[in-house]
Amino acid sequence: MSTPAATPTWRLVEPPRADLLDAAEAWAYRGVAALERAVGLADLGHDDLAPRAVDLLVGDRHQEHARHHRLVAVDGEVTRGVPRVVGHGELVLPVSDNRHLAVVRIAVLPSHRGQGIGSAIADRLRRVALTECRATVFAEVELAAEPPADAPDAVPPREGPGHVSADLPGMRFARRAGLGLEIVARRSVLDVPLPDDVVDRFVADAAARAGDGYRLHTWQDPAPERWVDQLAALEHSLSEDEPNGGLALEAERWDGARIRLEEAKRAESGRTGLVTVAEHVATGTLAGMTLLAWDDDRPELTEQDSTVVLAGHRGHRLGMLLKAVNLREHTRLRPAARRISTWNNETNAPMLAINVALGFRPAGGSAELQAPLADVVPLSRG
Ligand SMILES: CC(C)(COP(=O)(O)OP(=O)(O)OC[C@H]1O[C@@H](n2cnc3c(N)ncnc32)[C@H](O)[C@@H]1OP(=O)(O)O)[C@@H](O)C(=O)NCCC(=O)NCCS
Repeated sequence: MSTPAATPTWRLVEPPRADLLDAAEAWAYRGVAALERAVGLADLGHDDLAPRAVDLLVGDRHQEHARHHRLVAVDGEVTRGVPRVVGHGELVLPVSDNRHLAVVRIAVLPSHRGQGIGSAIADRLRRVALTECRATVFAEVELAAEPPADAPDAVPPREGPGHVSADLPGMRFARRAGLGLEIVARRSVLDVPLPDDVVDRFVADAAARAGDGYRLHTWQDPAPERWVDQLAALEHSLSEDEPNGGLALEAERWDGARIRLEEAKRAESGRTGLVTVAEHVATGTLAGMTLLAWDDDRPELTEQDSTVVLAGHRGHRLGMLLKAVNLREHTRLRPAARRISTWNNETNAPMLAINVALGFRPAGGSAELQAPLADVVPLSRG
């Protein structure tokens, strides 16, 4: 006689959307933010990567370029009418470009792992991706540190440097589902503020190499109207040129409206963007850009986002010049900031070289995984 399976103490829910954080229906945004903080602290030792509730809400509000499908697991514990979120799954379906992709994120509270919650979420999201006729699944597993290459459980990516531990719960999980490790991305952190004379020297050395053919402009959101279409061209070229190994990514479609939308999303979620661009003086066109962004309620942390120099303008130290000038302005605006974090694919040697020269040090990373959706297997037992 077989023992009847124990009834799970959790269930999956499609949470309501809310437009205001203090609305009762916003419970899932607050619950997912708390879960992601707890997962970050347990797995990575910090919560720098955890989205705030407002980031989730604003992300769901703006689905112009990617639709979101969200699921939460609740365990029956209710505090002041609010269910506790113990698992979270999100499927992002790009709609303007990359319409073949289904990007998955799943996280489960450490106290609730090994009960099949992650598998149940994965299987539900897989069915949604199938219904949406997506061809390729992407997932990322974040790591506190890369293992040494000779560690017994170190897995190399299909392309480029770096290693990931096969024993991480996320790696075991993703590989069981059929996903393969394509590339490793490095997270790096720069301790700030840098002494003024150090930044000034970076600026002066790079400016000497760039010559007087370029003029720099710096602003906080929003961008001056005259640059908006050219910023879109730079974002497009970044998506086209970033070395992504064998990840099945196509170039993104950008226009001025998408730039304005990104600015609006930052404003709605209490984020500020600080942009420096290089204008090619002879043609009056933009040769490159860089963006620092921060949450106004997180004074110690800033993120270094998009940096790109157009192919025809490379080799003049513009990458370093843009970043150093933006850093100098950042120090003036945010003297209380203590670290700037950034991400680079390990396959992106030119950008990594600039960051290392500026003093960024490795601070973990992520495994970039993918599989054809047709090869992804259901995980739930029974
Ligand atoms: C990866 C993650 C989502 C898995 O969540 P989970 O709820 O523990 O997942 P499951 O319980 O379905 O599976 C985990 C393990 O428990 C086992 N398991 C599943 N159901 C089980 C059950 N009913 N009883 C006992 N064990 C079970 C699975 O076989 C699996 O074993 P393995 O790790 O040896 O392969 C979780 O570890 C996590 O949040 N990690 C951090 C974020 C991350 O890396 N996400 C993955 C990328 S999208």
